[in-house]
Amino acid sequence: MNILVTGGAGYIGSHTCIALIEAGHSVVVIDNLRNSSKYSIESIKRITNQDISFCKIDVSDKSAVERIFEKNSFDGVIHLAGLKAVGDSVIKPLEYYENNLMSTLSILNACQKFNVNRFVFSSSATVYGENKSPFTETMVLMPTTNPYGETKVMCERILTDIAKTNQAFSVSILRYFNPIGAHESGLIGESPTGIPNNLMPYITQVAKGKHPFLNIFGNHYPTTDGTGERDYIHVMDLAEGHVAAMEQMTEGVHIYNLGTGRGTTVLELVKAFEQATGITIPFKISVQRQGDIASCYADVSKAQRQLQWSAKRDLIGMCRDAWRFEQNYQEV
Ligand code: NAD
Ligand code: UD1
Repeated sequence: MNILVTGGAGYIGSHTCIALIEAGHSVVVIDNLRNSSKYSIESIKRITNQDISFCKIDVSDKSAVERIFEKNSFDGVIHLAGLKAVGDSVIKPLEYYENNLMSTLSILNACQKFNVNRFVFSSSATVYGENKSPFTETMVLMPTTNPYGETKVMCERILTDIAKTNQAFSVSILRYFNPIGAHESGLIGESPTGIPNNLMPYITQVAKGKHPFLNIFGNHYPTTDGTGERDYIHVMDLAEGHVAAMEQMTEGVHIYNLGTGRGTTVLELVKAFEQATGITIPFKISVQRQGDIASCYADVSKAQRQLQWSAKRDLIGMCRDAWRFEQNYQEV
């Protein structure tokens, strides 16, 4: 298939392009490089030994998007372009609603106009809010605590409404849990700008000596050791989940959790990183982060059953690959 990947220069998008190409598909990437660089496109070419077509445009720009649809014949779209920093979204709600909603509407307009009927959307476990883990796709969604999460809930609703009026339109909504790690080549990975908000990039930066210690946000949660519990998934497993969703697409809207189904606490992840790398991570226990929940992990049985997909890589591999990328990574 010929697949358009929006946000394909980003963390999840670049790994998804590799997985698509490895599965025999061809790829066109749209990205405005707001949170990424052309380096990841070059790396995708280097890793796969294949050329890919890259268009530096804003997905919200309807006419620019339509021009790309005019020039190409797409079998499907994987829509990952979006802003994703939770804290930032609280400070700049308008920017988040505008970017994440307008880009989704724009790409959906083009799909309707050019009759492209396979659509994969990147949603997030954040839509489950304060439901109790393991999260299942049928749970009633709880309000999220930030504009970023709200944009995901709204996009899910938009897609569901469109599918109701267009019987040919097939949508897979993928609710990601916590992607970490990097492609095993060490050439692409997660490279947050500024001080990382998320746990794994913070750990790798402590290991590199950029920060003296890790702040663990609270140790009084109702979990095995009191620290927050999450479902960490290797980004290449997540990427392969997109390929499965695109290949197994059937009419209507289908929602899938992409996780491992296993909860790992902060302390367990620190231990796994130390075991994988031989590097000690100093830490201090600090106050809980506002908006954090105790436990977040997936029920993954639906994706296993319907997509014949499941995460294969273990926690040690995720830590090793994250560290390999961090060591190679030079800030631009
Ligand atoms: P990322 O920031 O690395 O990638 C997103 C890409 O989209 C970037 O390359 C950015 O430049 C591009 N982009 C943003 N707005 C754009 C626009 N209007 N036009 C064109 N390009 C635009 O983030 P990621 O981690 O790869 O996340 C990809 C998607 O998955 C996002 O929608 C994010 O909300 C969602 N998601 C991510 C996580 C996670 O933990 N990383 C979890 C759940 C959901
Ligand atoms: C964050 C986002 C969430 C998003 C998800 C994946 C917030 C409030 N939530 O969730 O919306 O879907 O990323 O992108 O930002 N931790 C520390 N020290 C740190 C960093 C994190 O102890 O320096 C802890 C957290 O309290 C949490 C765990 O590590 O228990 C994982 O945190 P993080 O990587 O930020 O992911 P989420 O909290 O799941």
